[in-house]
Parts: sequence; C-alpha cells; structure tokens
Amino acid sequence: MLVCHCQGVNDRAIRSAVREGAATCADVARHCRAGNRCGGCRPAVQGIIDSELVQSPLAAHSSAESLSERP
Ligand code: FES
Repeated sequence: MLVCHCQGVNDRAIRSAVREGAATCADVARHCRAGNRCGGCRPAVQGIIDSELVQSPLAAHSSAESLSERP
C-alpha cells in the first residue's frame, strides 16, 4: 500500500526502515524519504512505526541504538 505519495514509498519500505532501527518519523524519512516533503503521510507513517514497535519493541530498540551511532 502506497503511504507516501510524494516520495512513492509503500508500507513495506516503512516497516523495513523500522526493523532496521527507525523509531521516529524523522528516522523513517532518513531511511526511505517517506514524509520528508508535504508531511501529509506522517500520521500514517507514525501509525506504522507504532504498530511495528508494539510487535517487536526490543528489536526496534536495539536497532535504534545502532542507528543513533551512525555518523
Ligand atoms: S505524502 Fe509523504 S511527504 Fe507528502
């Protein structure tokens, strides 16, 4: 399902970004660019982040730490 129409990003790409450590809309935007233009998709992006973090909070947390260590 296309979530970010501005950047052509679907929910699978956003879920993948969260599994790789994205824990905020800004993180997702850095990973796959979803939400970095008009911002209209950010509530949907946040909903996907929330659902992924509920399903796997420990994996997301440990990955988020590694994401924050990036230069
Ligand atoms: S719809 Fe995602 S930034 Fe515009």
